[in-house]
This record gives sequence, C-alpha cells and structure tokens, in this order.
Amino acid sequence: MHRCHQFVSATAVLLLPYLANSANANLVDNFELLDQRGDAHELYYLSDANAVVLMAHASGCVGGQHAAGELEKLAETYAPKGVEVRLLNSSLNDNRATIRAAMDAEDNGLAVLIDDTQLIGESLEFWQAGEAVVIDPATWRTVYRGDIDGVAPTLDAILGGNPVPAPIALQASCTVAFPEQQRRSSHADISYADTIAPLLIEKCLTCHRPGGIGPWVMSDHNMVLGFSLMMREVVRTQRMPPWHADPHHGQFNNDRSLSVEEKKTLVHWIEAGAPRGEGADPLANFVHDWPEWGLGSPDVVVDIPAKEVPATGVVDYQ
Ligand code: HEC
Repeated sequence: MHRCHQFVSATAVLLLPYLANSANANLVDNFELLDQRGDAHELYYLSDANAVVLMAHASGCVGGQHAAGELEKLAETYAPKGVEVRLLNSSLNDNRATIRAAMDAEDNGLAVLIDDTQLIGESLEFWQAGEAVVIDPATWRTVYRGDIDGVAPTLDAILGGNPVPAPIALQASCTVAFPEQQRRSSHADISYADTIAPLLIEKCLTCHRPGGIGPWVMSDHNMVLGFSLMMREVVRTQRMPPWHADPHHGQFNNDRSLSVEEKKTLVHWIEAGAPRGEGADPLANFVHDWPEWGLGSPDVVVDIPAKEVPATGVVDYQ
C-alpha cells in the first residue's frame, strides 16, 4: 500500500461520522421525488411550513391505508395552519399505477411520494407502513416518530410553542422490506475501480472534465471523495445528472439519467465512506478526445453580432 492510498483511507474514516453521528440522527436530508400524479416534491422547498408530516405508505397494507385515511383528515385540519402533509412509498411491491389505484379507491387526495430507489425511506428508517414523522423545517430534524395518533398533539404543541409530548408507539403494522438495509455492511465492498468510476465516466464526465461545463473536475478518487456528500445530495434531489424528464413518459435520445440501480449503488458507496478499494484509478488514468460538439455537428450555426454591455447601469430588455 503506497502513501497516497493511506491518505485517502484516512479521509474516508473522517467522513463516516458525519453520516452516522448520533447528533445528526434526527436530521432529515433533502430529497426530491415524484408523486403518483407525476408532480415533483422537494422537502427543503417546504422551509416556510410550520411543520412537515411524512408517513410511510404501502398500498397493500390495510392498517397503513387506514392510517393514510386518518392522515388525510388531519391534513384538512392542519393545512390552513401551515402544516405540509405527504405520504412516502418505498415499497418494492408498488409503482405509480398501484399507488394511484389504491389512493383513488379510498378517495384519498394526499400526494404519495414514490421512493423507487428506497434511498429516502432507508435514511428515514421507514420500516413499517403507517409510521409517521413530524419534521421541524427550522432545523430539518424529526421531532416526532410513531403512530398517527401522536401527530395531532405534536402539531398542536409546535403551533402553540409548547414542548412536544412523548411519542405514541406505532401499532403493529405491515413491514416494508428494505433488502439493501440488510446488506449495508457489504456496501463498503462496492468497487470504486470497477463500478463507481466507470459509472461517473459514463454519466458525469462529459461535463465534469477539464473544459467541461461542470464547476469541478472528477479528476481522481480523492476529488470524488471530497465531493461525495454533495454528490449524494444532488442525486437525492435529482439535480444531477441534469435530466428532468419523467421516466414514465417517452424515450429520449442522449438520456443522461441514472437508473434506479445506479442511484442506489452510487449513494450506498458514498454512505459506506466512498472507499477507494483496490485497482488502478480509472478517473486518474482517463484520457478521451472530447468532440467539440457533444451531440454531433449542429444543422445550423447562427452568428449573432457582438453586443456591448456596460459595466454598470440598466439595459433595456430586448
Ligand atoms: C450536462 C452536464 C452535467 C452532467 C452530465 C453532470 N453534471 Fe454535475 N454539474 C453540472 C453543472 C453545470 C453544475 C453547476 C450548476 C449546478 O450546481 O446546478 C454541476 C454541479 C454539480 C455538483 C455541485 C453541486 C453544488 O451544489 O454546487 C455536483 C456534486 C455534481 N454536479 C455531481 C454530478 C454527478 C455525480 C454527475 C453524474 C451522475 C453529474 N454531476 C453530471 C453539469 C453536469
């Protein structure tokens, strides 16, 4: 093992406590997901709310579906008081169609955020349908976790500026399977050289390279390690790679999106500390003759005359 490798391992060890630190245990990181109607929801967009309520959902779960009905009634009461309410479905047995059908059958109009990678449910530890959390947008920490019955008293306490009452334990409900959670310890074995670096080369390097439009260059493992928590954030919030087409509609040329599997692999590797592992570094050794036009020569190039812009002052809109 040469010196460089040792340095990288030491940095990885420093990163781990950030994710596992108990002081951050209640912290809910930002995310963006589509709901059953195709609308996008970003958690931190709700920063003006007085509270955000999230509840784990699974369409086949009778108890969970009942709790979702209770939650909808609660939303009617508390929405006018600045409380945002959402369901979150990480179930591997569900998809947009099954969730839509289940919600329509109950005439429940709540938005169900579809966590197809399970990454969000995993980090929220939403193992059981019907489990609710109340999040304080001032700190993005959970102030309540448990049964739906404890949500209204918690909201009343927050809105009244009073201490939050003790949580009410969740009634036994349907368990949501999170297979990757069981495999957590093996995520450190995800190979940087064989899996992660090739993925970054395929999906990110066209912009994150010298002369590319990305603000930083994925030049080697050390650089990626330094940006790894930010990479986790931009994947969770669907900002990177920049590709905002809803995968339920159409097929596109030059689709840059990450697949569900790719998102899971990348984020789990980062959560394991973004380990360097064995093998030569494909990013450090990557040489590519990037074409001037990434999508091929344009059909038409329009020359526009140069325009002088004054250093200060107001320019009329044209
Ligand atoms: C089409 C070009 C393009 C591709 C492909 C791309 N990026 Fe970016 N990336 C950008 C640009 C432009 C910015 C700066 C603007 C921004 O932050 O939105 C950026 C910013 C970032 C940032 C910094 C975010 C911040 O808040 O400053 C991270 C991290 C990142 N990209 C990761 C990735 C990852 C990981 C991939 C591949 C999975 C990727 N990017 C693919 C263009 C791209």
